[in-house]
Amino acid sequence: MQRSNYCGLITEEYLNQTVTVKGWVHRRRDLGGLVFLDLRDREGIVQVVSEPESTSFANASQLKHEYVVEVTGLVRSRPNPNKEIKTGNIEIVATSVNILNTAIPTPIIIDDESVSEMNRLSHRIIDLRGQKMRNNIMLRTKLSREIRNFLDEDGFLDIETPFLTRSTPEGARDFLVPSRVHKGQFYALPQSPQLFKQLLMVAGFDRYYQIVRCFRDEDLRADRQPEFTQVDIETSFLTELEIRDMAERLIKQAFKNVLNVELPQFPVMTYADAMYYYGSDKPDLRLEDLKFVDLTHELKSSGFKVFNDAANKADGRIIALKFPSSVTLSRKELDELTKFAGIYGAKGLPYIKVNDASKPNEEGLQSPIVKFMSTEELQVIIDKTNAKDGEIILFTADKAKIANEAMGAIRLKLGHEKGLANGEWKPLWVIDFPMFEYDEDADRYVACHHPFTSPKDEHIDKLTTNPAECLAKAYDMVLNGWELGGGSIRIYQSDIQSKVFDALKISKEEADNKFGFLLNNLQFGAPPHGGIAFGLDRIASMMCKAESIRDVIAFPKTTKGQCLLTNAPNDVDEAQLIDLGIKKL
Ligand code: AMO
Ligand code: AMP
Repeated sequence: MQRSNYCGLITEEYLNQTVTVKGWVHRRRDLGGLVFLDLRDREGIVQVVSEPESTSFANASQLKHEYVVEVTGLVRSRPNPNKEIKTGNIEIVATSVNILNTAIPTPIIIDDESVSEMNRLSHRIIDLRGQKMRNNIMLRTKLSREIRNFLDEDGFLDIETPFLTRSTPEGARDFLVPSRVHKGQFYALPQSPQLFKQLLMVAGFDRYYQIVRCFRDEDLRADRQPEFTQVDIETSFLTELEIRDMAERLIKQAFKNVLNVELPQFPVMTYADAMYYYGSDKPDLRLEDLKFVDLTHELKSSGFKVFNDAANKADGRIIALKFPSSVTLSRKELDELTKFAGIYGAKGLPYIKVNDASKPNEEGLQSPIVKFMSTEELQVIIDKTNAKDGEIILFTADKAKIANEAMGAIRLKLGHEKGLANGEWKPLWVIDFPMFEYDEDADRYVACHHPFTSPKDEHIDKLTTNPAECLAKAYDMVLNGWELGGGSIRIYQSDIQSKVFDALKISKEEADNKFGFLLNNLQFGAPPHGGIAFGLDRIASMMCKAESIRDVIAFPKTTKGQCLLTNAPNDVDEAQLIDLGIKKL
């Protein structure tokens, strides 16, 4: 018999019709001489009843968990509807039950939330049968379909690029693949198709996209996998604004069609403002009201040594962050927060509890640092933070990088833990990134995005005179504190590219050696071009409200880069190594 319906999709629409479904026995109950089955397929669950007088009964009585069965029967309305599921108003009265396959007991219980992630990943196939993973994976396919639809309609061409290639400069370590034919030589798996997509623009394809796997050997976190999927886009002749507009429409349409969510117009924030107010280049604007107040200038001659030192360092910063009076912090909580700030390098976390804002002294302000400060300083703190009675102000004072990261992390932690988030979806663009950041270990500038990112037209001179202040035509799309995507306008003139390499201290030989194939081809009439790449796993996991991108990837790796299903990476035969010219250490 052919299947007539998916289990999970049968509703009252099919009342009094005969249907045939195929699926797995999710649950079986024997009640009052009847056998009740919850039959499951990818779309969900439907209730099947087998009555003792029915020819289906003999088989139905033998069923165990996860047996695969084919059921034919009549759809009737259910005396006790189940509001929790889509099919809850009906049931199928079985006329036949065929056992298509039996199953041994599963090592984990499907849909049991107490199963650890390690166990879920080891038994991923069973885990994927559960409702959460089924929904996530199906949402993800819907998301990619919507993205493809949008891009196809917008005239983008889907063009594949190689996986066995040369290193691409996205800043992570490469995964290398040894060549058997060219012993001692290696391919690199692409960290992104960056150089190929630029070359496709030189070739004249004008609008390219690809939903493509990228490989980066980097430290893994909840939002990072060693192989992940980008929605990779490149266009010719568009300005930064036009690319952002297209990318914003793409994401809005995806949210509308997948989640039925209308995202607002994305606000635009400069990188400088994002760092100044939120200490992060991907601010979570659900906590928009938790905004840093900078006191570096005001506390330059503070009697509190920690503030004084930070304010007088060239790269120092003093940040105050005020929390509303609904946030009360016990001594113990403050100690824990101080420890937490320590993870980011902060050596302390001074605080002021404002008991009476009209008294800028030890009487009105409860804090171990008040005694070191003058009334004037304390008044400035109260004024600039606009502190009211009952509120608490936390401070970080250190090198700007540490002060930002520590207070940025506290903002997120306390903000969410204390329920201060507003709104469900808060997207934004962060623009005007610096071209370079200084790498203290290497004692030279490195590219913030990648070395083919164009400087802003009015900053070209700064490439030579003041690289630290040179801004790029680079932009990130941020949603709820996650970087969903990033891109830039690229350099298409070789003289500017040379200046960028000079600033990065990349010699002509090194550039020719690493990127010669790009640089040479840019000379054959490269159009102005630029693009963006989104992390598909990240978009999908935000949409599913998953805590980790592992929950939207069918076969993900652990934070140690292992696949617990296949046990990769694994040892290989000596003979394979010899073939590749590789010796074991
Ligand atoms: P970028 O390196 O910013 O840009 O990557 C683009 C987007 O890819 C996602 N992403 C990741 N997702 C999961 N795991 C990872 N390890 C990981 N690394 C990155 C993020 C990120 O925003 N070629 C440029 C794009 C361009 O300039 O057009 C690039 O790869 O969501
Ligand atoms: P103390 O005088 O050591 O009790 O410190 C007073 C306050 O200053 C405490 O709240 C500490 O968290 C904070 N503090 C002390 N040393 C530092 C430091 N190096 N950096 C930042 N905060 C500090």
